[in-house]
Amino acid sequence: MEFTIKTSSPEKLKTGCLVVGVFADKELSPAAAALDKACKGAIGAIIGQGDLDEKAGSTLMLHAVPGLLCQRLLLVSLGAADGLTDKTYRDAISASAKILASGSAEDAAFCLTDTEVPGRDMAWKLSQAARLLKDATYRFELHKAKKSDKPAKGAHKLIFVTRHKVNAAMETAITRGRATAEGMALTKDLGNLAGNICTPTYLADAARKLGKEFKLKVEVLEQAQMEKLGMHSLLSVAKGSVEPPKLIVMQYKGGKPKEKPVVLVGKGITFDTGGISLKPGAEMDEMKYDMCGAASVFGTLRAVARMALPINVVGIIPASENMPDGKASKPGDVVTSMSGQTIEILNTDAEGRLVLCDALTYAERFEPACVVDIATLTGACIVALGKIPSGLMANDDELAAQLLACGQTTGDRAWQLPLWEEYQDLLKSNFADMANIGGRFGGAITAASFLARFTKAYKWAHLDIAGTAWLSGDAKGATGRPVPLLTEFIIGRAEGRTG
Ligand code: BES
Ligand code: MN
Ligand code: ZN
Repeated sequence: MEFTIKTSSPEKLKTGCLVVGVFADKELSPAAAALDKACKGAIGAIIGQGDLDEKAGSTLMLHAVPGLLCQRLLLVSLGAADGLTDKTYRDAISASAKILASGSAEDAAFCLTDTEVPGRDMAWKLSQAARLLKDATYRFELHKAKKSDKPAKGAHKLIFVTRHKVNAAMETAITRGRATAEGMALTKDLGNLAGNICTPTYLADAARKLGKEFKLKVEVLEQAQMEKLGMHSLLSVAKGSVEPPKLIVMQYKGGKPKEKPVVLVGKGITFDTGGISLKPGAEMDEMKYDMCGAASVFGTLRAVARMALPINVVGIIPASENMPDGKASKPGDVVTSMSGQTIEILNTDAEGRLVLCDALTYAERFEPACVVDIATLTGACIVALGKIPSGLMANDDELAAQLLACGQTTGDRAWQLPLWEEYQDLLKSNFADMANIGGRFGGAITAASFLARFTKAYKWAHLDIAGTAWLSGDAKGATGRPVPLLTEFIIGRAEGRTG
């Protein structure tokens, strides 16, 4: 979908579909009022009859309204005028995005962005809308044998209509929203790919491809190099698999050469069977999504490079399969991590932290401004928070606050859990410096507490995306989260707003 923005009155627009917001308490928005006048009160009459549900995001499609130049008019409820929030605004946008993405109108004009949202400026409204509209056009078709030769359904061109004068900040906001959605699409594609296709080797190739397209420096460390570096924790996870592990490093250098980078570390388990501590069979297919942290690093880097942000960002991806095998790690095995600390592997299904800890030690060499790791780390995080927010834990309160704020801004929210020293006792091992599991309680926190032992050299935050990276059931598919949160964070840093 292509976007443009233009100053105009909606009633003057010739378009396949004109999208206009309507408040539940029957007060017409300025755009709707202008249209109502042009069609001699037809819109007011329809709303007066109660045809449009009052819940924000309800829609009513009208065809060939006399007096209007548009072929279709899509009325979208914004709920009560005095109750307009970030959420009702996004609900209204998402509902219209869904209809535009599957409808027969080839182009559209969009007036919802001219609605006042308390506390939000035009740039916010535009970037949210551009992202949601573009994201709604995402389809996963990489595994379909027959590629459709028909052009995809849905609107291909969209004009944001505003009564204000168009300025550069508005154009930038649209570009950012679109770039974020494009990053999310890459994240979703990698996540949705089958585990037999999207292996560590595939991820390494995808990194090289992204590197070529956006001039990133890409390095892939092979098993022998990882052995030399002493990454025996990471390697212990790969031992049961015939797929060779990879440590993928991507560097985006948009900032000054000496400027410290933001480092993103993404868990890249391309399939998690649990290993010898084998998982139960139900829904195990979903463990192909265990590389969604890695996929979000790809997506964020793509968005950042696409926007050409003036900042340095490094992406590090420890990639491996976790399989049971004669050669696989066993419960009770002890390994030495790159940091020198030893780990007793009491459960081979707690493998995410085993690959992440060596990647986090490796991150030190980039002298990071801060490190954020992103991982589908624990089922316990879903038990604690459900599937609405990602879990956030950090060793730096300011960094945590910035990430939480970016979650609020984008609607891609996170919620902080404590990372107190007391939890460290739960990782005690009789045979090594630590165990890789912490018992029955507070599993999301003990997992993060484990990682905290490897992140003492820098400011660090951890996002547990086990509940947010994909949807199950009928709507099964990757969500592209937390690319909006991370992209917003990096935009803020590039502009000197955060950190
Ligand atoms: N990848 C899983 C976590 C997971 C499970 C994410 C279900 C999303 C849905 C992770 O590797 C894992 O298996 N964690 C274990 C840890 C436990 C053994 C301490 C878990 O959560 O059960
Ligand atoms: Mn596991
Ligand atoms: Zn896992």
